[in-house]
Amino acid sequence: MKKAFSYSRELHCAVITGASSGIGAEFARLLGSRGVYLILSGRNEKALNDLRAEIGRDICTVIPADLSDTKSCIDFFAKCRRYDPDILINNAGFGLYGEFTETSLSKELEMIDVNIKAVHILFKLFLKDFTRKNRGYILNVASSAGFLPGPLMSTYYSTKSYVIRQTQAVYEELRRKGSRVKVSVLCPGPVNTEFNARAGIEGFMKGISPEYCAAYTLDKMRKGRLMIVPSIKMQAASVAVKLAPIGLVCCVSYALQSGKKRI
Ligand SMILES: NC(=O)c1ccc[n+]([C@@H]2O[C@H](COP(=O)([O-])OP(=O)(O)OC[C@H]3O[C@@H](n4cnc5c(N)ncnc54)[C@H](OP(=O)(O)O)[C@@H]3O)[C@@H](O)[C@H]2O)c1
Repeated sequence: MKKAFSYSRELHCAVITGASSGIGAEFARLLGSRGVYLILSGRNEKALNDLRAEIGRDICTVIPADLSDTKSCIDFFAKCRRYDPDILINNAGFGLYGEFTETSLSKELEMIDVNIKAVHILFKLFLKDFTRKNRGYILNVASSAGFLPGPLMSTYYSTKSYVIRQTQAVYEELRRKGSRVKVSVLCPGPVNTEFNARAGIEGFMKGISPEYCAAYTLDKMRKGRLMIVPSIKMQAASVAVKLAPIGLVCCVSYALQSGKKRI
């Protein structure tokens, strides 16, 4: 994908959660190559430091944080604030496969903490700062999973639905105020990352590359696009889900999920 524009003239610092692997690491590589200073976060300090060495120690800093913990989220925000960031990529998240009566309650509560609570806290705190400055970009990473109920991954799908609705609502509040702060929500289908392995499954649908996902998304985010769905297949699926009866959507969703293999 072509290198569309340089961010460095107006934007100088991006905070990226979940930067230690997958889509987050690609956002970091891309923004770093465009001259944006980076705050890389995650729990895996080694992976974050390796990425920092790869991108350039002088243009990155590492702030590790376990975002399943509320206090860590708030401390993380306070540390980031010193760098006066103007981009937040609210990306950390994970999934879990299995029937609702069988999956681990503690793992699901951790998922709700990372996928909803941490995204909510950081969205709010950074947005308040960005609104005061009347500039900046926030990208909340949801999933196409947020468009529909997801039997066999019900909690994950529900968490991503929250992120979509929250972002859409706040977008409207900002639009009505004429704010120059841009908020977007990324809703990819399968992307080839660590995601499936962490969720305990092998996917069967061909995913897009994290490089393509990140490049496509940054282009749309820069243009102020609210909903970012980086594949034609998923764009078509999102329309079909709105038109089909919910019973049919659940049946198809179950069939797709049951095609995944546990690892
Ligand atoms: N891959 C897909 O098919 C797909 C599709 C749609 C949406 N998404 C979404 O895309 C986002 C990125 O996922 P990915 O595909 O890049 O998967 P990934 O490679 O597994 O990356 C997930 C990132 O989240 C971080 N993370 C998880 N738990 C955390 C915690 N408690 N505290 C802080 N960071 C935490 C991980 O960092 P540490 O392990 O270092 O903490 C890691 O950097 C997620 O929100 C995911 O739901 C993925």
